[in-house]
Amino acid sequence: MRILVTGGAGYIGSHTVVVLQDAGHEVVIVDDLSNSSASAVDRIAEIAGKVPELHQVDLCDRDALFEVFSRTRPEAIVHFAALKAVGESVAQPLRYYRNNLIGGLNLFEAMGEHDCRTLVFSSSCTVYGGAPALPLREGAPTWAVSPYGWTKVMLEQILTDLHAADGRWRIGSLRYFNPVGAHPSGRLGEDPRGMPNNLLPFITQVAVGRRERLTVFGADYPTPDGTCVRDYIHVVDLAEGHLAALRRLQDRGGYHTWNLGTGRGHSVLEVIAAFERATGIAVPYEVAGGRPGDIAASYADPSRANEELGWRSDTSLETICADAWRWQQANPDGYPN
Ligand code: UD1
Repeated sequence: MRILVTGGAGYIGSHTVVVLQDAGHEVVIVDDLSNSSASAVDRIAEIAGKVPELHQVDLCDRDALFEVFSRTRPEAIVHFAALKAVGESVAQPLRYYRNNLIGGLNLFEAMGEHDCRTLVFSSSCTVYGGAPALPLREGAPTWAVSPYGWTKVMLEQILTDLHAADGRWRIGSLRYFNPVGAHPSGRLGEDPRGMPNNLLPFITQVAVGRRERLTVFGADYPTPDGTCVRDYIHVVDLAEGHLAALRRLQDRGGYHTWNLGTGRGHSVLEVIAAFERATGIAVPYEVAGGRPGDIAASYADPSRANEELGWRSDTSLETICADAWRWQQANPDGYPN
């Protein structure tokens, strides 16, 4: 198939493009490069042996997006392109709603107009809101605790309504848990601009000497060691989930939500220990107060995706850390441009 991947130069997008190309698909990337690098596209080409077509377009530019659809005639879409920093979304809600909602609406309209109704949407476990019963199952009510989270809840609702109105749409909303790690080649990885918000990039930047020490946000949560528990999933496993979802949508259609997680939770201290075991490098840290908005624990029940997609993620935390470290060591300052 010819698959258009929005945000295909980004962290999860770039790994997914490699998986799609390896499976024989032709990929067109639409990315405004606002939080990604054209170098990632060169690296994709190097790994997969095929150069994906790149269109530097902002999804909010409706005319430019429609033009890409007319020119490339995609048969399916994988939609990653969005703003994703929780704290920033609290400070700049309108920017988040405009970018994520208008961008999404333009994309879905372009799809309908060009007779392309197969979509894999990048959602998040953030749609389970703040007070969930664990493990998290797809049937749980959706809610959000930040504007970023609300954009995911709202886009899932829009897609539910779209499928209800016209059963020709085939849509999978993938609720990611905590994507981490890097391509085993060390050529693709996470390259946050400025201070990393997320745990693993912060740890690897400490290990490579870019930051002095990690701050552990909170050690008095009601968890076994007091630090927050999350479901960390290797980014390549996550990327493979998109291919599995596309296959399922091609076979059976429908609107679906699928959790993409491992089903296992690990605390912040367990992640630090796994990184130290995997790399032999000590990670200095200090404990501070909890980060506003953080919940004590979050992990998936991934059984729906395991059964319906024939997909599972069980890459160990040590392998995840080793891969993240290989990427960081080879690219201490991220992508060259
Ligand atoms: C965060 C977002 C989530 C988003 C996901 C994308 C918040 C509240 N949630 O998830 O909506 O979908 O990223 O990847 O921002 N930690 C530290 N020190 C650090 C950084 C993190 O102790 O310097 C801790 C956090 O408190 C948390 C755990 O590490 O307990 C994981 O944090 P992070 O990687 O930011 O992921 P989430 O907060 O789970």
